Amino acid sequence: MTESTTIRWEQDDTGVVTLVLDDPNQSANTMNQAFRDSLAAITDRLEAERESIRGIIFTSAKKTFFAGGDLRDLIRVTPGTAQELFDGGLAIKRNLRRIETLGKPVVAAINGAALGGGYELALACHHRIALDTPGTKIGCPEVTLGLLPGGGGVVRTVRLLGIADALLKVLLQGTQYNARRAQENGLVHEVAQSPEELLAKARAFIDAHPDSQQPWDRPGYRIPGGTPANPKFAANLPAFPANLRKQTGGAPYPAPRSILAAAVEGSQVDFETAQVIEARYFVELAAGQTSKNMIQAFFFDLQAVNSGANRPRGIEPRQVRKAAVLGAGMMGAGIAYACARAGIDVVLKDVSLESAVKGKGYSEKLCAKAVAKGRTSQEKADALLARITPTADVADLAGCDAVIEAVFEDTALKHKVFQEIESVVAPDALLCSNTSTLPITTLAEGVERQTDFIGLHFFSPVDKMPLVEIIRGERTGDEALARAFDLVRQINKTPIVVNDSRGFFTSRVIGHFINEGVAMVGEGVEPASVEQAAAQAGYPAKVLSLMDELTLTLPRKIRNETKRAVEEAGGTWTAHPAEAVIDRMVDEFGRPGRSGGAGFYDYSEDGRRTGLWPGLREHFTDPGHRIPFRDMQERMLFAEALDTVRLLEEGVLTSVADANIGSILGIGFPGWTGGVLQYINGYEGGLPGFVARARELAEHYGERFTPPALLVRKAEKGEPFSDSVRP
Ligand code: NAI
Repeated sequence: MTESTTIRWEQDDTGVVTLVLDDPNQSANTMNQAFRDSLAAITDRLEAERESIRGIIFTSAKKTFFAGGDLRDLIRVTPGTAQELFDGGLAIKRNLRRIETLGKPVVAAINGAALGGGYELALACHHRIALDTPGTKIGCPEVTLGLLPGGGGVVRTVRLLGIADALLKVLLQGTQYNARRAQENGLVHEVAQSPEELLAKARAFIDAHPDSQQPWDRPGYRIPGGTPANPKFAANLPAFPANLRKQTGGAPYPAPRSILAAAVEGSQVDFETAQVIEARYFVELAAGQTSKNMIQAFFFDLQAVNSGANRPRGIEPRQVRKAAVLGAGMMGAGIAYACARAGIDVVLKDVSLESAVKGKGYSEKLCAKAVAKGRTSQEKADALLARITPTADVADLAGCDAVIEAVFEDTALKHKVFQEIESVVAPDALLCSNTSTLPITTLAEGVERQTDFIGLHFFSPVDKMPLVEIIRGERTGDEALARAFDLVRQINKTPIVVNDSRGFFTSRVIGHFINEGVAMVGEGVEPASVEQAAAQAGYPAKVLSLMDELTLTLPRKIRNETKRAVEEAGGTWTAHPAEAVIDRMVDEFGRPGRSGGAGFYDYSEDGRRTGLWPGLREHFTDPGHRIPFRDMQERMLFAEALDTVRLLEEGVLTSVADANIGSILGIGFPGWTGGVLQYINGYEGGLPGFVARARELAEHYGERFTPPALLVRKAEKGEPFSDSVRP
């Protein structure tokens, strides 16, 4: 029998076999070929030596229990190699099934993260015990990568929890549970506090259950809560498609639908057939474009961005101990909370102590909510709040090693505020501005140490939004960039890095999305259809409602400033068709957006949206004017993608991963695309297909859709956007 190192066989003299997952070639165990081969060999050996075995424990020698499918393999699956994936997957499932039905107790001693394939392996065990450590995360997050659990996860969770709970608690949301919550929700049986206790409990289970079996292999077993064959259950089933629509907004996410189908179809057949059904749906998703897009963005690009692919090399990492947050308004209050939550002492300064205290009140509210929901303890919340010192006195900023400015959006004011504090804070303090539109290079002119000055663009609400856009001004030094990067990571956010330019990356690109939606209203398209088009394309916020949130006067202000800058530089300003609509909305109809109580939508007294303003139809809509729904969606998606390519051409963006991650996490570009540049890569017909379609849109809707030279060049060379082949 071949001795495998990927799964190590350790047998004691009482007949307990511990199978230690320990891939010698990787830092985590994955379902790669070596694992498949080992599992097959181990299964044969278990069967051959069955008589001398009393029980089996699966555990791992790595920090994680088991990491699941190897995404580097999965992203390469094509319809041509799908059969191979199907066969390989089924082989693993059959071997796990053989172990599960060997007639010996099998225990999963989950000593770290068991996500996806890791949890599926544990599901094939009769008893699951999870070690209660911060690293223990349990669940099936495949749906967040456009996949489904194809290692028996659908089949077994349905049989363990019933269809409804399996779908809602595990499969459709991809929730990752800590050890305690996994136990509360029925994903594991027990929790252990130490590695020793984990193994002791595993042995105790084997001693007490020599004839252990899976529930579904016991005589008379029925799926909890019934199956669609039962009329009472069937009555509930129609709610699921509605839930799905709520989850995906009608956007093209195929995974939730396939998960639902695999669960329901699999519940009505025997275990083996259900495994085959699950494998079919899995392979179909893996061979499709959406899972490739999502794996690219949410795994590879996110990892590249967070691990510092764009951080200058050779600079020692540094941690901030005490931060000054200037301005305790909406953004400053949120930034103070994010810093304090990460253990940083914060001095929160505003013009009056009263405003600063009010800003701290925001953290108090968030903490109270977190305590009430059981997400943190009162003790931790108190400690967090104790780290925030509100003040109106500049002297309190002494010793701060980072400054984050979030006062009103006004260059002169920002200059003044930095002048007041520069000589008070630590002599090498990092100087950051949270401006959303003002050029960093100009703002830097207000300080002595311009090399230490940098843009740190947070998104609202700060406690929820995971992205920070770091903007490097012309004179920003490498050291400041590295320190800004470290600060963003210190507060557990994702940093993208761009060079200074008007609107940077995110504000400029989201402007194109909004302009396109507004332009369609101006052409006479039914406004409700414009909103539907955005929702069904997968945008989290509908385009006109987003415009109302941001207020219609904001794009006007930005437009006027940009226009002035373009003309001063000797260029000509090309008006966007959205401009006339916005001007009419504000000047003729007095509807500046939500904060003004009226915009594209009507609002109730207490600020709730009550519906699209009927005047839109009267003043703008032309019932005879219809454009294809697909054109409506693609005009918004293409407008953003094309401008992102221009930003690469201009050198504002320097990395494809930053563009993809920034677009999804910062400005709501639909996740199924894998981000704004991956959308181009994955478009039907690849880059040439995208270019051809852009030309078509340019012909029908305006020259702004003309593909930029960089895109045309890459399409001709057949070279997708990727960081290994930098443009
Ligand atoms: P805000 O109006 O809510 O807060 C500004 C705060 O600055 C007020 O509390 C004000 O009293 C204070 N302030 C004014 N002068 C000051 C001084 N001399 N010293 C100390 N504090 C002073 O504004 P908001 O929305 O928080 O925006 C702040 C900055 O963040 C702006 O530059 C804005 O462009 C930027 N930003 C805003 C985003 C948003 O969604 N609102 C998103 C990203 C950036």
